[in-house]
Formats: sequence, structure tokens, C-alpha cells
Amino acid sequence: MADSFDVIIIGGGPGGYNCAIRAAQLGLKTAIVEKRGRLGGTCLNVGCIPSKALLHASEAYEAATHHFADMGIDVKSVSLNLPKMLAQKDEAVDGLTKGVEFLMKKNKITYLVGTGAITGPGAVSVTDADGKVTSLLTKNIVIATGSDVMSLPGVTLDEERIVSSTGALKLSSVPKKMIVIGGGYIGLEMGSVWRRLGAHVTVVEFLDRITPTMDGEVSTQFLKLLKKQGIVFELGTKVTKVEKVGKGVKLEVEPAAGGPARTLEADVVLISIGRKPYTEGLGLETVGITTDARGFIPAQHWATSAPGVYVIGDVTFGPMLAHKAEEEGAAVAEIIAGKSGHVNFDVIPGVVYTNPEVASVGKTEEELKATGTPYKVGKFPFMANSRARTNHETDGFVKILEHSETRKILGVHMIGVGVGEMIGEACLAMEFGASAEDIARTCHAHPTMSEALREAGKAVDGWVMQL
Ligand code: FAD
Ligand code: NAI
Repeated sequence: MADSFDVIIIGGGPGGYNCAIRAAQLGLKTAIVEKRGRLGGTCLNVGCIPSKALLHASEAYEAATHHFADMGIDVKSVSLNLPKMLAQKDEAVDGLTKGVEFLMKKNKITYLVGTGAITGPGAVSVTDADGKVTSLLTKNIVIATGSDVMSLPGVTLDEERIVSSTGALKLSSVPKKMIVIGGGYIGLEMGSVWRRLGAHVTVVEFLDRITPTMDGEVSTQFLKLLKKQGIVFELGTKVTKVEKVGKGVKLEVEPAAGGPARTLEADVVLISIGRKPYTEGLGLETVGITTDARGFIPAQHWATSAPGVYVIGDVTFGPMLAHKAEEEGAAVAEIIAGKSGHVNFDVIPGVVYTNPEVASVGKTEEELKATGTPYKVGKFPFMANSRARTNHETDGFVKILEHSETRKILGVHMIGVGVGEMIGEACLAMEFGASAEDIARTCHAHPTMSEALREAGKAVDGWVMQL
């Protein structure tokens, strides 16, 4: 007789494991299936966590090699120990994935290692590495299979010279020349890592701007600062060919709008042009689910077209972000348990963890203009923030967009050191329907970078004070 569950979750990433924990907390008999052999998904294994470990370490290296002397710290010689830097990243990943496994045990969730497939309504099979198949029954299925790396048509990733983010997280030496195709989250974070460690980095971006979904003003400032750091940008440029030649890689590029072709050469090419939803071998056809043209599983409030089958995270609509997947995981568990699970898609922050960081939540100015929404802007530069000046970290600004009639904050966009930590305050304010004045009238500790958010709040109504 097959084991039976209230809910089986396929995929052990931030969507899946958070869904499992919430479901178990609500008293549901829960199982989670993961084929990787380690929980945590893309985020913990080859995404958020290892990339942040390398961003942190490479930032410390750059500070030691370029900025310590300005603060009166003379270090005799600083050298890079790349194997150790990669090993400390792997240690962080190991610790956290084991932590998630512990949480499964603690919450009495059945963890099955293997490839999960839907075999019909209320039926799931799990095939382990030896080919052994276990059949399970369940009242509900949650698909949380995430996303996978994507290459250019006809270009094979060898993860050594032509790499995705996965290969870029473990290069065995610092390339002299690196070309990054795609100026989005991955390209700018991983490009920053390898530039700090000594690579000459060129970013080739199809559009005429980087981070296309971010507020335009922030994006323009971001581009300026990254250029100042030495990253070269080829905007409005399309790649027509990528091929391995000798020990390097040759690219053919031409203007996106058409024009003469040029050749670029590099030791390593990182392809970071977006990720694709992952549904391979999932058995969607057995319950009549079809993906959309781009491969995403369509859903209404996470319910797919098949009764009792839900979908969350990167494999369905919305931003491909770990915290979005986590929110959805908790919401779906609550819905299955008969509660009213909810996600506020207007308040999902996005952070690029470069230096300076870029952080944003809500509508951009371009989106407000396009919809004819009446709005007011309040801006404050870090150049005028005392903590930023003390720390010699004055690049960037905070911008608040407020509805000019309802006075609700519609968006907050920041660029500056550590703004990834500051965006949480903006999210909370928006969740509570705050106005810019609410932030302006909230006492903030001095001297802190977060005072810039308060001053931007004042700027909306024209009473900025601090300098
Ligand atoms: P995933 O994390 O992709 O997990 C899905 C899991 O399902 C995988 O482990 C996979 O092995 C498993 N699976 C798939 N099919 C099956 C099957 N049939 N049976 C069993 N198991 C299966 N987001 C952020 O918010 N912040 C960041 O800083 C950030 N940095 C990133 C850096 C990089 C380099 C990358 C690549 C991504 C980053 N992301 C970041 C995005 C983030 O990793 C994803 O949005 C997030 O992991 C999505 O979670 P998920 O649970 O939907 O899917
Ligand atoms: P992305 O969508 O962030 O950026 C892709 C970029 O590539 C865009 O600027 C796009 O215009 C460009 N592009 C697309 N096709 C191209 C082509 N043929 N030639 C040149 N440029 C092209 O995707 P990315 O960076 O691959 O990351 C995937 C996802 O992973 C992100 O969307 C994000 O959701 C997530 N992520 C989040 C991070 C974070 O939260 N800090 C960090 C890394 C990834």
C-alpha cells in the first residue's frame, strides 16, 4: 500500500521548503521531494548564497587592496587565495543546506531524495539515483521545481570557458578578460566579483540600458558607478556568435538596431540573459496541465488547471526571486490548510548586491508615467547624509514615489552602500499603507544611512533638513 500524504511538494528550493514547513506547522502530513540530493534549491546551492559569499569576500579583497590605505590602514601585502575564497563559499552553502534538512526533521516532514513526477490525479512517483521508484498518494501536490540556466541558441555551456552563473561561481582561476552577456542581476553581480578579483570585464547588453526592470534614474546612476569601477559596457549590442577558439572564446557582436559586426575576445564568457522555468519529466500531461509559450506553468492564485495541483516560485509567473517563492510557499500551505493565504505582489523588493547596492520596491517612475498615475517625488542624496560622508560612501540616493491624491507610497528606489538592508523599512511602510510623511515623522537613529530614507520622505513635501 503506497504511503499517503495531505501534501507532496516537488522541489526543495526556497518555495518548496518554506511551503513544507508552513504546511507541517498547520498540521498537514507533508512530504518534500528533491532530486539534487541537497535541499535549498538554486538559491542555496548555486544562486543567492554562493553568489553573496563571493560578493562579500571579493568586496573585502577590494577594500584591502584599494581602500584600506585611505583610512590609515597600511597593509604590507595582500594576495588572493582563490581556492580558500571558493572553499569558504562552499562552507556557507553546506551549513545552510544542512540547516534546511534539520528543519525538515524538526517539523516531521518526510524528505525523499529523487526525481518527483506526477503520475495522475493525487499520485506522485519518486525515482532515486539507482532507478528505484516509490509511488505515493496525496490529497494535494505543490509544484516548486524552480528554474534552470539558459544559454543563447546554439551555444553550449561547458561551465569552464562558456559559463552560466553556476560555472561563474567556481572558476578555478581569475580570467584576464571576461565577457558577460546580459546586464541584469547575475551579470552585474558576478561581473563585479571577477572584476574585483582582477578580471577585465565587459558587459554586452542587448538593450540600451542595464537592469531593465529597475527605475530608470537608478539604473542610469548604477551604470555610471559601475563604469567608474572599470567595467566596460557595450549597450544596444547583440551577440550573433560565440565560439571557443584556442584557449579563449571569440564573440561576434553587432548593434541591436543593425550595423557592422565586430569581434570580441575573452578567456571566459558568462551567459546571463535570464533563466527558464524547469518542468522536465514532471508528468504535467498526466493531469492535463500545459505550460505557456515560455514554459511557465499558468495559475490563478497558485491553483493550476488541475484540481489539487498548485504551483509556486520561479516555475510560475512573477519575479524569479527567492523571497517571492518563499512568500508563495507559505501562502499555498495556508490555502491548502483552509486559511486565506495571500501575497502582496506590489511589495516584493528587489536587490542587486553589488557595491553600491541597488534596492527597490513597488512602482518605478516609468510605470507611473505609463499608467498616468499622479505622483510626487522625494529624493535625497547620500552625499548629504552624515554617516555616508563619514564612511566615504557617498555615491547614490534614495527616491520615494508617493501618490499625490491618496498619499500612499507607491515605490521606493535606492542606490547606495547597504541599501539592501534599508529596503525592508520601505516594504513595511508600504504594507501599512504609509505616506512619505509617515516615514518623515518617524524618528531614525543618527548617524545612520537610513536617515536618507527619512529625508527623502521629507523631500516629498519640501521640508528636507539634514546635511
Ligand atoms: P529553486 O530554488 O530553483 O528550487 C527548485 C528545486 O526543485 C531544485 O533544487 C531542483 O533540483 C528541484 N527539482 C526540479 N525538478 C524536480 C523534480 N522533478 N523532482 C525533484 N526535484 C526537482 N534570488 C533572490 O531573491 N536573491 C538573490 O540574491 C538571488 N541570487 C541569485 C543568484 C544566482 C546566481 C541565481 C542563479 C539566482 C539567484 N536568485 C536570487 C534567484 C533565486 O535563486 C530563485 O528565485 C529561487 O531559488 C527560486 O526558488 P524556487 O523554490 O522557485 O526554485
Ligand atoms: P535578468 O533578467 O536579470 O537580466 C538579463 C539581462 O540580459 C537583461 O538585461 C536582458 O535585457 C539581457 N539580455 C537578454 N537577452 C540578451 C541577449 N541575447 N544578448 C544580450 N543581452 C540580453 O537575468 P539574469 O541576470 O540571468 O538573472 C536571472 C534571474 O535570477 C533574475 O531575473 C533574478 O530574478 C534572479 N537573480 C536575482 C538576484 C538577486 O536578487 N540579487 C541575483 C541573481 C539572479
